[in-house]
Amino acid sequence: MTQPAESRIAVVTGASSGIGAATARTLAAQGFHVVLGARRVERLEELAEEIGGTALALDVTDEDSVDAFTAVIPRVDVLVNNAGGAKGLAPVLEADLDDWRWMWETNVLGTLRMTKALLPKLIDSGNGLIVTVTSVAALGTYDNGSGYTSAKHAQGVLHRTLRGELLGKPVRLTEICPGMVETEFSLVRFGGDAERAADVYAGLTPLIAEDIAEIVGFVASRPSHVNIDQIVVKPRDQASATRSHRTH
Ligand SMILES: NC(=O)c1ccc[n+]([C@@H]2O[C@H](COP(=O)([O-])OP(=O)(O)OC[C@H]3O[C@@H](n4cnc5c(N)ncnc54)[C@H](OP(=O)(O)O)[C@@H]3O)[C@@H](O)[C@H]2O)c1
Repeated sequence: MTQPAESRIAVVTGASSGIGAATARTLAAQGFHVVLGARRVERLEELAEEIGGTALALDVTDEDSVDAFTAVIPRVDVLVNNAGGAKGLAPVLEADLDDWRWMWETNVLGTLRMTKALLPKLIDSGNGLIVTVTSVAALGTYDNGSGYTSAKHAQGVLHRTLRGELLGKPVRLTEICPGMVETEFSLVRFGGDAERAADVYAGLTPLIAEDIAEIVGFVASRPSHVNIDQIVVKPRDQASATRSHRTH
């Protein structure tokens, strides 16, 4: 991988769509050389071309893929643990074990693999930052959502534990907990059912990916002694994971 020696490097996982793609654009506009990771490499390559970044195949559920991805990155100043998502909505009684495995592998173990692999480089940078995109699902439960809420809680706990473990090291940690953001999230959750996905955002104004990207940009541009621990951000129309105002 080649990039100007003076540029700071930001790694964004799940950069092929939604919040990750918007975050890659924002960080590139702030002068970072952005390394984009996801499984859909064609999408990454298009975005990397647009922002002058580097596209690399990454499957955060696969140890070898994470090793190959992280090995070629010479330095890391910012890691955005964004790859993730939900599969299905089902009561515990009807829980689909494969959906649970997908959610835990991607959100929790994916974040663990990436963080473990890049932490030495983040420390070496002298001013590292880890941003983890969890969710309001990391802060509370909702009916039929236990696969996702449990995974997001675990991802949040992993991230928050590092805040103590890294005291004295030059690495900051920020958790961002969004409410509803209109991306491909619901399309993935409902196995490609576009109508069901659209219903999630019907009658209200959801957040858009750029709203979250701007927050990452703000966090990444604070002076190095300022640690923003956690940000909870929801649409004005959404009071909680289960309570929203809808016009219809
Ligand atoms: N949208 C919301 O309402 C919302 C709310 C709170 C939190 N979040 C969280 O925000 C994050 C981003 O989601 P989004 O809303 O932007 O959804 P999205 O548009 O579906 O984007 C998800 C991204 O994750 C990547 N990804 C999934 N599995 C992966 C894997 N095994 N390895 C590498 N990358 C993988 C996808 O890329 P590939 O498929 O190309 O690999 C894609 O780029 C997720 O962690 C999600 O849980 C979303």
